[in-house]
Amino acid sequence: MKIQENISLKPFNTFGIDVYAKRFVTINSLNDLKSITSKEKNIFLMSGGSNMLLTKDIENLVLQINLKGIVVNDTDNDVVYVTAEAGENWHEFVMWCISQNYGGLENLALIPGNVGTCPIQNIGAYGVEIKDTFHQLEALEIETGKIKTFTNEVCDFGYRNSVFKNELKGKYIIVNVTFKLTKRNHNFNISYGAISSTLKDISKPTLQEIANAVIAIRQSKLPDPREIGNSGSFFKNPVIDLDSFQILQKKYPEIPHYIVSENEIKIPAGWLIEQCGFKGQRFGDAGVHQNQALVLVNYGNASGQEILELAQKIQQKILETYNILLEIEVNII
Ligand code: EPU
Repeated sequence: MKIQENISLKPFNTFGIDVYAKRFVTINSLNDLKSITSKEKNIFLMSGGSNMLLTKDIENLVLQINLKGIVVNDTDNDVVYVTAEAGENWHEFVMWCISQNYGGLENLALIPGNVGTCPIQNIGAYGVEIKDTFHQLEALEIETGKIKTFTNEVCDFGYRNSVFKNELKGKYIIVNVTFKLTKRNHNFNISYGAISSTLKDISKPTLQEIANAVIAIRQSKLPDPREIGNSGSFFKNPVIDLDSFQILQKKYPEIPHYIVSENEIKIPAGWLIEQCGFKGQRFGDAGVHQNQALVLVNYGNASGQEILELAQKIQQKILETYNILLEIEVNII
């Protein structure tokens, strides 16, 4: 294990922000992880770097989690338990599951990031969230060095949320995640508008065909982080109460919305941002993506601070116009 000094983190975060780590180490084994965390408590975790906006240099020791491997536990007729190490690339893992005809993750193709961080924000797309197939995970407790198992219930998953964003924030390092996937009689979820229209001519789509549809839709709307820096949706879609919604709907009858519960209405933040005229706008190298207003982008050399200022400008305008405070989804560092 070699600790390197003054390393640029630009290649390690999908926003492509050029900040520096004072000290940086790549973790290739659980033993290395245990050994380093027994000595160093002030650490900063990097996995796929796909859900963070770095606004400053990192003083703590940066651990780049590179644990690799996939293990299959196939003892049931209909389902299979697949455990992937935290450093496996998420999209490659999804495609591997599809190649084995294991169902459940196909709607989540092409989401940037690694396996180990997907439970933290309960990643989701096109009507599916990680919690739907999540079985359990193992994580190292930084304080004690012990490995603990977390079931689906204990993770307390919500919309882009889990216990690891709340009471257990900063206390654990996820080392592997196990999914319960189907081997046959897959529970396809293809009702999401864009997916059903892409698949309209196929009567019984395969896992691969669903993934292909998801990939095509994502590629048409979302910028590829290898070409334009970004972290996917920058804000959460706000959920407001029915009374507030009805006031808004009177003023803006065309406002798109989804009913979450009797008194909760979700509004697409992308619509609010587009209505306020930000879609496709550019301020230096910081901008709002031209095909999806919920995605902020770095055209090359934007600093984290510049992206954050743009986010605040958007928040301010939407608060003034719609009386809704957009919550930032990406971790601001
Ligand atoms: N819309 C606009 N203008 C835009 C973008 C969206 O008006 O520029 C409106 C439209 O009414 C559209 C609606 O918003 O029908 C929904 O847009 P979209 O289907 O693109 O989904 P989203 O709500 O903007 C969410 C997730 C995405 C996920 C998609 C598909 C959040 C914060 N984002 O976006 O997740 O891929 O649904 O399921 O919930 C991510 O979390 O990084 C992410 C990309």
